[in-house]
Amino acid sequence: MGTVLVVDDEKNYLLVIQDLLEDEGHQVLTASTALEALEIIEKNPVETVLSDIKMPGVSGIELLDRIKAIDPDLPVILMTAYAEVDQAVSAMKKGALDHIQKPFDNKDVRRAVARGVEKRSLMKNIRYLETELGTVWGNIIGKSRPMENVFSIMKRVADTPTTVLVVGESGTGKELVARGLHRASSRANAPFVSINCGAVTETLLESELFGYEKGAFTGATSLRQGKFEFADGGVLFLDEVGEMSLTLQVKLLRVLQEAEFQRVGGTKDIKVDVRIIAATNKDLKEEVEAGRFRGDLFFRLNVVRIEVPPLRERREDIPILVAHFIKKYGERLCRSLPEVDPEVMRAFYRYPWPGNVRELENVIERAMVLCRGDGIKAEDLAEEIRDSPEIDESLDRLISWEKGLAETLDAIEAKMIRQALEKAHHIQAQAAKTLGISRSNLQYKMKKYGLLP
Ligand SMILES: Nc1ncnc2c1ncn2[C@@H]1O[C@H](COP(=O)(O)OP(=O)(O)OP(=O)(O)O)[C@@H](O)[C@H]1O
Ligand SMILES: [Mg+2]
Repeated sequence: MGTVLVVDDEKNYLLVIQDLLEDEGHQVLTASTALEALEIIEKNPVETVLSDIKMPGVSGIELLDRIKAIDPDLPVILMTAYAEVDQAVSAMKKGALDHIQKPFDNKDVRRAVARGVEKRSLMKNIRYLETELGTVWGNIIGKSRPMENVFSIMKRVADTPTTVLVVGESGTGKELVARGLHRASSRANAPFVSINCGAVTETLLESELFGYEKGAFTGATSLRQGKFEFADGGVLFLDEVGEMSLTLQVKLLRVLQEAEFQRVGGTKDIKVDVRIIAATNKDLKEEVEAGRFRGDLFFRLNVVRIEVPPLRERREDIPILVAHFIKKYGERLCRSLPEVDPEVMRAFYRYPWPGNVRELENVIERAMVLCRGDGIKAEDLAEEIRDSPEIDESLDRLISWEKGLAETLDAIEAKMIRQALEKAHHIQAQAAKTLGISRSNLQYKMKKYGLLP
């Protein structure tokens, strides 16, 4: 139920529709010209507009244009006579929510208006969430503590020439972070050139990166510039950098050190000014230890490191991500925005999201294609998500696979000691008793974790 504005120059239609919608529980305002309608919209919290197209003076289509200019989220439904198909089409193109043919069927009017009111309220929620987000980096959504940390490092390094290494599991948003850094830097107007080091063979990668001279190899019929040259003045994003062969790593290191390189088959040194942002979902340190990645290149790339946390460690971002993707696919699929059943949200909170944000995005897209008019329900989800088992949130949050066992256990121990001390009002003997350890052991551990007063 909502506030609906009906616009028609024919009094009879106004009365009929007003009755019909009031019976549905809507509050109905009426106007007999477009100008009158605009005045009403300015002064009242109208949630949906239902307007005739053909009116003397300003037409319904023009009214639609004006409304979209002042309040793009206000749903407008237009009514056309049978003969005005072209106008109906152009109305839909201009962003009308729906069109209804006159003479109309009561149930079509009821349904279209209900959709309008529902859409309006969803858009209101989304706008609210958007303002709540506070820190939005381009289109990177997140307000959890771990994401705030990411944003705060991004803010500090965005407008510097420093090399950045973005690490994180697959689908966490590493590329978004790289693009965000580019957009927020003074290089924003120069190109962002991206290359996936894992997707091509070593030879191809080399000529992709550095380009080649005419005649450098069979098939090199003309000179070709490489990504380094394309990225001059801007950013070169080396995705999956951990996949690069050792030979190419040497060549890359040289460019990073000297800011110059030669095309394949060339002898001339080419100077470039390129900021490097690299990304990987591998543990590069481990790769270095295993001899698969050069230590000196690792140190060169790892000047500033941004760790993008997996989604299961920032579940509080799930609702805003869901809202974001619903809006994204609502627009793409041209459909009204479905409501999300609380049961679905609970399942999302339980599920561990091995594919991270990308997986969540795919799940929303799929659900929006499958769901019916009454919103996204648990049955629209894949079984593994719907039936994923309860998790122990508090323990789950403490577990850190990046830090490894020893450091994680330390974190848990420090937390227990802090809590025991608080409970015991900082009487150490009592805290030691609660913890089941000796007082000297407690003091040793307090010193270790910097908890001594
Ligand atoms: N915080 C976020 N807000 C909005 N969209 C996100 C966010 N994180 C990721 N996405 C979306 O998820 C998808 C995957 O993101 P991206 O390609 O940046 O991940 P990645 O870490 O580079 O993954 P991979 O390691 O598999 O290449 C993209 O469609 C991206 O738009
Ligand atoms: Mg990627």
